Amino acid sequence: MAWEKTISESELSAGARKVVKVGEKNVLLVRHCDKIFAISSTCPHWGLPLELGRLTDDCGIVCPWHRSGFDLATGDVKAWAPWPPGLGVVLGATSRQKVLSTYPVKVEDGSVWVMTEQAEPTASKK
Ligand code: FES
Repeated sequence: MAWEKTISESELSAGARKVVKVGEKNVLLVRHCDKIFAISSTCPHWGLPLELGRLTDDCGIVCPWHRSGFDLATGDVKAWAPWPPGLGVVLGATSRQKVLSTYPVKVEDGSVWVMTEQAEPTASKK
């Protein structure tokens, strides 16, 4: 496994997000809760972009499409496609519940480094 240098830490202010390519993967970097997280840039529900997701006070992200919620650190599911009301249950059932992929991230020499050599997400499977 190897760390890959991405962007300068200064490019990611509080609440900011940026999609970077690390190896073959599109990784979404997010600065929130005084940390930088590296997660999949797409939602595990339908694979739609997470970049505009809402950040929550409990260090999570909510998908802008059907509002699945995930823990930024572990990728654990907090909610699975609850939107829109009523129809969300049907939409949620179209895809098996999966954790959001998360990746090891560190800041070194003023840059954000990400490791994506792992085949599986770092979060536990549900
Ligand atoms: S694509 Fe994210 S909740 Fe449906």
